Amino acid sequence: MTTAPDVVVRVISEREYAAWYRDHEVAFGRRGTAEEANRARPSVEVDRALAAFDGTAIVGTAHAHSVELTLPGGVSAAALVDMVGVAPTHRRRGVLTRMVAHQLADVYDRGEPLAALTASESVIYGRFGYGIVGMQENWSIAREHSALAARSEPEGRLRLVHLEDAKAPMLDIYAGVTAQRPGMVRYRPESYDLLLSDEDGQAEGTVFRAVYEEDSRPLGYAKYRMGKDVLAVEELMALTPTAWAAVWGYCLSMDLTSGTEAVRRPVDDPLLWMLADPARLQRSITDRMWLRIVDVGPALERRRYGEEGRLVVQVLDDFCPWNAGVYELDAGETYAGCRPTSSAPDLILSASDLAAVYLASAGFTTLARAGRVIEQTPGALALADSMFRTGLAPWAPYNL
Ligand SMILES: CC(C)(COP(=O)(O)OP(=O)(O)OC[C@H]1O[C@@H](n2cnc3c(N)ncnc32)[C@H](O)[C@@H]1OP(=O)(O)O)[C@@H](O)C(=O)NCCC(=O)NCCS
Repeated sequence: MTTAPDVVVRVISEREYAAWYRDHEVAFGRRGTAEEANRARPSVEVDRALAAFDGTAIVGTAHAHSVELTLPGGVSAAALVDMVGVAPTHRRRGVLTRMVAHQLADVYDRGEPLAALTASESVIYGRFGYGIVGMQENWSIAREHSALAARSEPEGRLRLVHLEDAKAPMLDIYAGVTAQRPGMVRYRPESYDLLLSDEDGQAEGTVFRAVYEEDSRPLGYAKYRMGKDVLAVEELMALTPTAWAAVWGYCLSMDLTSGTEAVRRPVDDPLLWMLADPARLQRSITDRMWLRIVDVGPALERRRYGEEGRLVVQVLDDFCPWNAGVYELDAGETYAGCRPTSSAPDLILSASDLAAVYLASAGFTTLARAGRVIEQTPGALALADSMFRTGLAPWAPYNL
């Protein structure tokens, strides 16, 4: 690989924002418009907007949102990375590598123990120490197979609402779901307008929002698109099983459609078990959220654990060398302490594999069988699996 020595990576200034925004789309084969740049401005943190400059030309971009990430029994400050791209003229010359190194050092300096992202291509981020923490399912089911096993009459009612009226109930429900499920993100208030808006130039059909309420309390919603003859669920969240069943029942039984599709569903969505004929649900599973443990000690201390235990773990980390070392984790359901130690490790694994087990997306035993975790002390894998297990699978329903 020829490196690009003349390229300078730095944070942009406010004055450079509009050009930076327009150019970040170049990596995806288009150029952003001034209007899009204006619309996105509130959700962009300019002091976290990185550019790679070749002279005055922007040839690479990366950005991070300051967010909070739900963990089992806790929450952590985190960087949510997006807008990553390198101009086609400058690829495979180390520009991304330099931007990621710059960004992760900044995340560490800010005291955020975690960075997360969704990847356009799954091959890119493992080399930087990111690991898969959340898978997602995309679904399709024909109308004639979409009956629910138990169709109970919901106690509440569904209302179709316009965007302006939908925001408050959707945010309420989103906040409730976010508090319960690991991997979910609490954004800065400025970002929600963009998240909830209809804009998706590429998708066909009209967007609708249905909110389910009991005694005027919003408990579930679906945002869906009516295409030619398919109802496409883009978001569906609910706070109670009844609300979940009511919203799904609605989306699965729409007249004049041949079926329902859904994207970005969590892998433990109960819908499969609600269908009368679950085998007819066509499912495809892909990677969704990638996580980078940027500071091992605080990251392990922020969450709570399924079982009490003490584990000595050696973390290998060439890309963020401050992380590499041996740590003693002493933790349980209500406490967690993690500190460097000179004791011999029970387990040895890389930073990206630590990310994969961090929210129990993968088990330690499974990764050991894949040759990725080394067990030095017999029984350590089983203990680690019990300690790191979580109730709900991680989920990242939004695109930001
Ligand atoms: C993905 C992208 C950002 C990589 O930028 P880059 O500057 O070319 O990456 P680097 O030169 O730093 O590459 C680092 C390593 O990753 C590899 N790599 C990077 N992108 C890759 C890809 N898409 N497929 C396979 N390998 C890739 C490089 O070969 C290199 O490997 P090496 O260190 O073994 O030589 C760039 O190709 C791009 O903008 N693609 C389109 C937009 C996109 O996918 N953005 C990511 C959004 S999540």
